Amino acid sequence: MNVRSAPIGVFDSGVGGLSVLREVRALLPREALLYYADSAYCPYGDKAPAAIVDRTVAVAEVLLARGAKLLVVACNTATSVALPTLRARFPAVPVVGMVPAVKPAAAATRTGKIGVLATSQTVSGAVLAGLIREHAPTVEVILVPAPGLVAVVEAGDLAGPRVEAALCPLLAPLVAGGVDTLVLGCTHFPFLGEAIRRVTGPDLALVDAGEAVARRIRDVLDARALCAPGPRDGAVTLLTSGDEAAVRALATRLMAVPRAGRCAAPPSLAAAG
Ligand code: DGL
Repeated sequence: MNVRSAPIGVFDSGVGGLSVLREVRALLPREALLYYADSAYCPYGDKAPAAIVDRTVAVAEVLLARGAKLLVVACNTATSVALPTLRARFPAVPVVGMVPAVKPAAAATRTGKIGVLATSQTVSGAVLAGLIREHAPTVEVILVPAPGLVAVVEAGDLAGPRVEAALCPLLAPLVAGGVDTLVLGCTHFPFLGEAIRRVTGPDLALVDAGEAVARRIRDVLDARALCAPGPRDGAVTLLTSGDEAAVRALATRLMAVPRAGRCAAPPSLAAAG
C-alpha cells in the first residue's frame, strides 16, 4: 500500500480521544483513521508513570502493525508522561501529542482568570506548570484535578443529575473565583460541555485542544508529503483492549454529540477487521 493511503493511528486510555478524532475527521476527511481505546487499562490518570509508558508503547505497536503512518496521542495524561519515550522508540513515524489549551485560554480571558480541569496526573505534572509559566504568567489559573470524571464519561453519563452532582464541587470554586474561560485538559471532558454549562451558566467559555491537534496533524502530513490522495473519504476503524461491543456502542453515541456551536455528521465506525 502507498504510505499516503495508510491510516492515522489515534489512541487514548478510553473513548476520550474521540473528541480529538472528530476534529481530525472534520479537517482531514480523506484520511483513514484507526482509533484505539485502551479501555481495559482506563483510566491512565491514577497509574504510575512506568505503567502508562508501557501501555502507550503496547498500543503504538498495535497501530503500527496495522500500518499507521502517523500516531496521535489523544490523551493529555499519556502525552505528558510518555511522549518522549514514544518518539525515541518509534523514530520512523511522526508522533503528535497534546497539551491543555492554556495558551488560547490565556489569550481569550477578559477577567484575567482561567481554570484548568484535568486528571490529577496532568494537574500535578511539569508539562502543565511549564505551559502556565510560558503562556499565562499574568493570568490567575485555578487548577482543578478531576479524578472521577473520566469514569463518568466511560460509563456513558453525559447529562443529568448524577453528572451535574459530580461536576458541582469541581466547578464551584471556578465560578466563585470569577473564571470566564475553562480549559478542558482531558480529552474526555469535551463530551461533558453541555453538562458543565448547565452547572456554571452559559457564559463560561470552554476551550480544548482538539482542533489545534488536527491542524498540527495536517501540517506534519503536509511537510512529509503523507496526505491521503483521496478522492473518497477514509474509513474510521475502532480497536479496543476492552469489550468491543460496549466500546463501539459508546463511541457511536459520543461521535454524535455536537461540539459547541456545531453539529458534526457522525462517521460510521467500521469493524476492526
Ligand atoms: N483522556 C485522557 C486525558 O486526556 C484521560 C486520562 C485517563 O485515562 O485518566 O488525559
